[in-house]
Amino acid sequence: MTAASAPGKVILFGEHAVVSGAPALGTAIDLRARVMVEDLPGKTEINIQGLGLRLSGFSIDSDGRVVSLGSSEEAAAAARYVSAVVRTLGVSDVRITVSSEIPVASGLGSSAAIVVATLAALSRHMGIDMDIRGIAAEAHRIEKMVQMGLGSPMDTALAAYGGYVQISDGVTPVELPPLDLVIGCTSVPHDTRAEVARVQELRSRYPEIVDPIFKAIGVISRKAVPCIKRMELEELGALMNINHGLLEAIGVGTRELSELVYAARGAGMALGAKLTGAGGGGCIIALPGEGACLRTITAISQARGRAFVVRTGCDGVTVE
Ligand code: MEV
Repeated sequence: MTAASAPGKVILFGEHAVVSGAPALGTAIDLRARVMVEDLPGKTEINIQGLGLRLSGFSIDSDGRVVSLGSSEEAAAAARYVSAVVRTLGVSDVRITVSSEIPVASGLGSSAAIVVATLAALSRHMGIDMDIRGIAAEAHRIEKMVQMGLGSPMDTALAAYGGYVQISDGVTPVELPPLDLVIGCTSVPHDTRAEVARVQELRSRYPEIVDPIFKAIGVISRKAVPCIKRMELEELGALMNINHGLLEAIGVGTRELSELVYAARGAGMALGAKLTGAGGGGCIIALPGEGACLRTITAISQARGRAFVVRTGCDGVTVE
């Protein structure tokens, strides 16, 4: 038996602008997807557990297609990522069990964590030599393939390397201290592909307006690095607030996201709050004041968000 786990992530700064080449900064969080691989002669089976869903079973037919045994759409989506890894490595005769603490379809990197942990567990189990760099590159290729061409390398890089990662021309891990953040989830699912397309369409209509916004977002992503390094949290919070305003300007904010942002900044006394990921739904991140996590959680919960604390800068993939 071989087991591996990989973390989820949040984008701290730079979403959408990164699609047009501006830098973005993301970090691994202490919610993990775990994958266990065991020998199963004559069969290949995928089990998806947790994900806040009912227990579900899948098997793979001889062409590598996932055969669902009566389960939810979210669990079926997770099984598609696992199946893509199984096909890429040409593996059979195994049972793969996936469990995850990362909320799905929320922009928290659940699918990347599952792909990275599956690659790590399966390659180790089969004696295939793959280092972390190879896992990150292959996971990015697989995630993009399943998502039909969509996906920045941010999620898979963070699931593989952990810590903090800056994306601009390439993927650069950055050494920064951990932070406690409060995540607030709206119950509105989001569609990353649709949001990216909408923003890019806005950019093609108003390049002289949207390009300077992307440039400003890029400046924020760069300025955030020394702020985190020196733990200048008030300034970091101010950068989060400006970045949220710029994301609203390009149309990816929603009433539900803004309600959580303003609840966190108001009653929650957060130093800053912004949406994270593609927007249109999904989650916000808030930077609580010193010793005030609970206050921020309560304010977000009262605004009908699901709130929890995460620690940033966590370990990347590990094989146990
Ligand atoms: C989505 O999590 C982040 C976006 O910038 C899209 C991407 O970078 O692929 C909106």
